[in-house]
Parts: sequence; structure tokens; C-alpha cells
Amino acid sequence: MKFFVDTADVAAIRELNDLGMVDGVTTNPSLILKSGRDILEVTKEICDIVEGPVSAEVVAAKAEDMIREGEHLVKIAPNITVKVPLTWDGLKACKVLSSQGHKVNVTLCFSAAQAILAAKAGATFISPFIGRLDDINFDGMELIAQIREIYDNYDFQTQILAASIRSVNHITDAARIGADVITAPPAVIKAMANHVLTDKGLEQFTADWAKTGQKIV
Ligand code: G3P
Repeated sequence: MKFFVDTADVAAIRELNDLGMVDGVTTNPSLILKSGRDILEVTKEICDIVEGPVSAEVVAAKAEDMIREGEHLVKIAPNITVKVPLTWDGLKACKVLSSQGHKVNVTLCFSAAQAILAAKAGATFISPFIGRLDDINFDGMELIAQIREIYDNYDFQTQILAASIRSVNHITDAARIGADVITAPPAVIKAMANHVLTDKGLEQFTADWAKTGQKIV
């Protein structure tokens, strides 16, 4: 399973990347807003840190404008993946950009039917949004399972990029189903290290070690 970080926070990306935990990065207009940075500038900085795919999202509504934006974004660095929304125009843009040899991430996917269309349009990645489905009492993880089953049935090469991840359980559940990639905020990735029994055990070891009166170095 590949780990993408869902952020435009350069310091957070650098910290996880130094640990070898970053296979790629995803951004979107909201994350660019949160960073307070210029999209071209911050995306270039991220591409200089991370070797893997870095998704940068188009904002136009019409296919021809998305293609124009995508062609501009791919000039930032060779590892740019163009992110387009799962609309009919987005699928047209996906087809053109992927035929040109660019990686395309089709985002805002909320149904298996949409995921089939993205695969047919040549998407490199499909981004089903787990958390936002859970938010409206749909089962986000069930969507990951449906897409996995369908893509496997027909040997579609589009990679399932589980997105809108809000918890550690989302990551482990997506991994069990066989999502190819997860993209999660840095805080959720770091929370994977936490366990109450680890904390309790360490507390005990620290207390017992103090009683020995010994030192290792
Ligand atoms: O990158 C898109 C996706 O991961 C957004 O997540 O938490 O805003 O639904 P969220």
C-alpha cells in the first residue's frame, strides 16, 4: 500500500518524507487556501521534496479549460499528477490529458458507477471520498470494496486512492480491502503510531528501570 499525504503543508510533508513514509502528495483548492501559499510556488516546493506523484487540482469547469490548466500544471515538475473532478467535463479532460501521457487523478468520486467511468477515461488514480460519505451516513468503506471488486473483475489498471480519510481505522480498513493508495492528513498518519497499551507498557518499563539504578550509556 502506498502512502500519500493529503496536505500542502511543506514542513509536515518534509517530516514524514524524512521517515520514508511519503510515496506521494495530494492537494486540492481547500488545502492550497489553508497553506496560504501560491499554488505554483508551493506545488513546486513539494515536488522538490517528494519523488512520487504530487496531485495538483484544476479549478475550471469546462473540459477545454481544465486541459489548459492541466497542461500548465504539468510544467511545474515531472512528478505532477493532474487532478480533475468527476464530472462529464472532468472525464473528457482526463481522457485528453492521459492520452498525452500525463498522470491523472479523478477526484470527488462518490459511487462505483463514477469509478468505472474514470477507469474507462484512462485515469491513473480514482479518489473515492470515504469521510464525506460517512458524514452523510453512507458507508464510505463499502464504496472502496465495490470499486476494488469491479476493477479486479475487469483488470482495470486505475489505482484506487482512498481519500477523505479521517481516522486510523479508515487506513487499516482500506488496506484490508486492498486500496492501492491512501491519502491522509499528516496528523492521521502520525496517529497510527499511538496505542494506549504502548503508553502503559512504556510507563511501567520506565518506572522499573529507574528502580534498577542502572544506566545504558
Ligand atoms: O484530497 C481530497 C480529500 O482527501 C479531502 O478530504 O477531509 O476534506 O473530506 P476531506
